[in-house]
Amino acid sequence: MLGIVFTTLVDMLEEKISPEFADEVLVEANLQNDGAYTAVGYYPFSEMEKILTVLVNKTGQSVDQLLYGFGEHLFGVLAGAHAEVMTDKMTVLEVLDSLDNDIHVQVRKLYPDADLPSFKVLARKENVIELEYYSQRDLYKLAEGLIDGAAKYLGNTVTHEVTPTSTPHTYIIRVTMD
Ligand code: HEM
Repeated sequence: MLGIVFTTLVDMLEEKISPEFADEVLVEANLQNDGAYTAVGYYPFSEMEKILTVLVNKTGQSVDQLLYGFGEHLFGVLAGAHAEVMTDKMTVLEVLDSLDNDIHVQVRKLYPDADLPSFKVLARKENVIELEYYSQRDLYKLAEGLIDGAAKYLGNTVTHEVTPTSTPHTYIIRVTMD
């Protein structure tokens, strides 16, 4: 998992709670490199799981709630850091429609080691999109947070539902825009 994901999470904890809290979490998580992440580094996903476990204990929120809240925050940071990737994207549905064939393709050029999920477009109408999300890491809650973060960023209002499929690590995500 890319360093920018870790640094954004640590920054978010520092801003939303406190620098002391962020430090405590990193110490308790017993991380390989003591939590000294760089945005362009690359770290095992298990390190993120360790941080999330500590956060569950310290905040009382579930992993799902934490991933959702983090995704919402992460979108603004990613889009802010790489505004060029968002050029011409007017609505959240346009963003979702172009994840596999444009946005995450550009991301791969910026970060060749990125572990990107796939978002296959199954159906697209003016105000609704249906995607098939596949990732070994099953981060659909992070995806839901990113979608709501994108909606906020672009000034749209959306509702979404996630349905697991019979294929492992594969989910249908349906997003409707008001
Ligand atoms: C609503 C829009 C988006 C959605 C739903 C989305 C979804 C996701 C998800 C779910 C992941 C986690 C990896 C996984 O599932 O295995 C991810 C990773 C990532 N995405 Fe996106 N994404 C969106 C937009 C963007 C944008 C605009 C950028 C950059 C400008 C971006 C850059 C990245 C990066 C850098 C990673 C980390 C890859 C890694 O850890 O190796 N994404 N995305």
